[in-house]
Parts: sequence; C-alpha cells; structure tokens
Amino acid sequence: MAVFPKNFLWGASTSAYQVEGAALEDGKGLSQQDVVNKGKTGFADASVASDHYHRYKEDVQLMKKLGLKSYRFSIAWSRIFPEGVGEPNPKGVEFYHNLIDELVVNGIEPIPTLYHYDMPEALVEKYDGWIGRQSVDDYVHYADFVIREYGSKIKYWLTINEQSIIVQYWKQKNHIPDRYVNDEQIKYQINHHMNLAQAYSVILVHKYFPDAMAGAALGYSPIYALTSEPKDALAAQNANNLRNLFYTDVYFKGFYNESALKYLQDNNLAPRMELGDEAIMKAGISDFLAINYYNSDAAKWPETGAKRRWSGVNLSGKKGDISGYETQPGYYEICRNPNLDTTDWDWAIDPSGLEYALEDLYSRYNKPLMITENGIGAHDELVDGKVHDQYRIDYMSDHIAAIGRAIGRGVPVISYNPWSYIDLLSTSNGYQKRYGFVYVDRTDDDLKNLARIKKDSFYWYQEVINSNGENL
Ligand code: BG6
Repeated sequence: MAVFPKNFLWGASTSAYQVEGAALEDGKGLSQQDVVNKGKTGFADASVASDHYHRYKEDVQLMKKLGLKSYRFSIAWSRIFPEGVGEPNPKGVEFYHNLIDELVVNGIEPIPTLYHYDMPEALVEKYDGWIGRQSVDDYVHYADFVIREYGSKIKYWLTINEQSIIVQYWKQKNHIPDRYVNDEQIKYQINHHMNLAQAYSVILVHKYFPDAMAGAALGYSPIYALTSEPKDALAAQNANNLRNLFYTDVYFKGFYNESALKYLQDNNLAPRMELGDEAIMKAGISDFLAINYYNSDAAKWPETGAKRRWSGVNLSGKKGDISGYETQPGYYEICRNPNLDTTDWDWAIDPSGLEYALEDLYSRYNKPLMITENGIGAHDELVDGKVHDQYRIDYMSDHIAAIGRAIGRGVPVISYNPWSYIDLLSTSNGYQKRYGFVYVDRTDDDLKNLARIKKDSFYWYQEVINSNGENL
C-alpha cells in the first residue's frame, strides 16, 4: 500500500548552534546559546559542535547519498546580524547562500528555520532578549532581510522553533538575566513577543513570496487522561489547552486559547498585551503547522491543595531520573503513562501518539502538517567503525508507519524531517545523547577528528526513502 505521496519530502533536521560551530568566525556574533552552553558542566559547548560550518559540502554529499529530498536547518541570527541589528555580515550571508545552493544543486529542498533558540547575545545585553518588546522589531528587521535575501530559493519557511518548549524550559532555552529567574510570568511574556514576531514573519513571507508557505515548528505532545475518571479527562483537556492549543490557536485563529489564558490571568502569569497585538496575530495566520514530535504525555486531576510545580528534566540519561512533573493547581497534573515504555531520558515512546496528534490537529485547523523533528536520543557506541542503532530504526519505523496511517485517513502531511541528520550538540546532554543518522567522531571533551561515520540507521533510512516509505 503506497500511502506516501510521490512528492513526499523525506528529510532530516538540524539547527545552527547545534551543528555549525565556528561560533565567532567570519564575523559571527555570540548567540545566547553560545553563552548558555558555556555555563553547563560536563557537556561540550557550541564553539565547535559538529563543525558543519567548515564541512557543509561533505555533509551535503552524505545527504545526497542518503537520498534526502529535504533538509531542515536554521539560520543563525547572530551570523547575519552579529549585533542583532544594523548592517548584515557579508560572510554570514554568503554561508547560507552557499549551503542553500549546495542543497538545491543536489536536489534537496532547503527548509530554513528563522529562529532556533539562538537570540543574539548583544540583544540580551541590550534589553534582556525576548523579555524586551524591542525584540519583536529587531526580529522583524532580521526576518525581513533573510526572507528577501534567500526567498527566491525557498518554498517552506519555518518561523520559530518550539515556543512551547521555550516556555516549558525557559531558563535552559534563553539566557535569562538573574533578576528574572524567579519571575514565572516572564516566560509567557517571552512567548507573547514570539507570537508577534512569528506572525510578522508569516506576513513578510506572504508579502515578498506569495507562492511560498510559512509556519512555526512546535514542540508537540498530545496529552491523554491517565484514567477514564471524568476529572482526569478534564485535566487532560486543560493540559492540552495550556501546553498545545495555547500556541496553535494563535497560529491558526490569531487569538489565545480562552481557557488557558483565563487560567494564566487567574494566576498572575498572563502576558501583557498591547492594543493591536491581536490584529497582528490575526494578520499572520500560518499556512501549515510543523510539529516536533518525540513523545506523548498523560495528565490527572491534581489533589486539592497541590502546589504549582513546573516540568522536570532527566539530565543523566538513566531511566527514572526525571526530576518531577508539572502541576497546575486546580487545572492538571502531568504524570508518567504506565502503558508506555520510555527512552533512557524518560521520554515516553508512543508512535500512536503521532498518529493521534496529526489527526487531531488536522481536524481542528484543516491545514497541512509537517514533521520537523522526531527521533530517539541515545548513548550510541562506535564499535569497530560501526554504530548498530537498531533502537533508532525501530523507533523511526514505528513512527513512519503511524504517519502513513494518518495520511491514509486523509491528513495531508508534507514532510518527515527527523531529528537529526547528523549527531549534534543535544540541548540537554551534549554529545552523550545522540540522534543522527551520521555519527560524528567526537566526545564532549575530546574533539578527536570529527569524522562522519554512517550508522546502521543511515542505510535503513536510505531504503525507506528509496521505496517511498514501503520498506520499513
Ligand atoms: C527539540 C529541539 O526540543 O528537541 C532540538 O528543537 C533538540 O533543538 C531536540 O535537540 C532534542 O532535545 P535534546 O534535549 O535531547 O537535545
């Protein structure tokens, strides 16, 4: 059964600061990720990463061998505008022309993301980055330049990566000045500024290239009720409102999900909005939604008197080490789903969740969907020049089958761009947590030779692409 359309964009993904390296080369300014990652102990920083900046030609040749039809990458704002604003840096501008041209010549559709966690550090120093409303205007200045500069070669623009995860893990994903670290409202303020920035970039794409499409890449986990207790069903609905629809309603309706906004208002967490903001969001309705799907979540009704608690993380890569689950008093409590196995980082493995998400999102908004991340972070081992990552093959093959089922029921899915094309700097565990089809020979503290080595999953994915999803 050939469910995948002929022109389906089999691809893979990365982001600038996680692969490029050359953090201060050819005029690039520091981004907040260069700074945030320097502060992490036990992991590599972003200064060399996978050295893609110097090896992009070799990397594109490998992509061609793999058979990729599309490649999702991000443009580093601080490579284009080292100070965040002002005049563009010619060498930085040239790098992305070279990369895009190399992709196009090799028959690979370039899918750029305008923003992937890497606000120029100069703007953090100037007005606290996304916390300051000036960030919206400066992002527009950046996006306007980039869209005009590369737009004739681009069909699909991704605006902002994972607003939901930026809110959930606001301190890891942003360089937050000390005076704000206890101010939880700030994350929703950051998100509001991003909503305006994202809407403006959709408007700009439509203005300059009416045939191109634009949308956000959202970290998306469907949420199930832990039990069939009606209160748990309500909790799951509430969690879906605050963790998912709070973003997607803005992208497709131009206003915030009412239940989620009311909850934030009642708890002094709501973003401050200005007159006219909703009109901007309404003018910048997305053409599609790209989702980054790794896992589903479960929710139950919180106990009376439960205290607010934000999402915990597992930073050790040992199952069960997660530091806790989010609780929103009187609204929902996130919990482990006993029906699902997890990765070593406690992320629930749930291919059906992807099918569920695709069907749910399509029936709500009737817009095409892309998958711009999906994959398994693992402690890959290089043994005798090979990486036997059967767990990755199993994970992806189950998820691709789930996408096929959703397509079979009428959901228009444009692409599958799993995370990641090549090993890169994991946001939580550096090079101890790998995702790529291509192994990079380095560790967190030893750069070795940064050689590219094809994993077993590389050969498997090659055949998946070759058979247009028939041979999983
Ligand atoms: C997504 C991000 O949240 O998940 C990526 O867009 C990230 O940048 C990926 O690398 C996996 O997360 P982690 O923490 O395992 O690297």
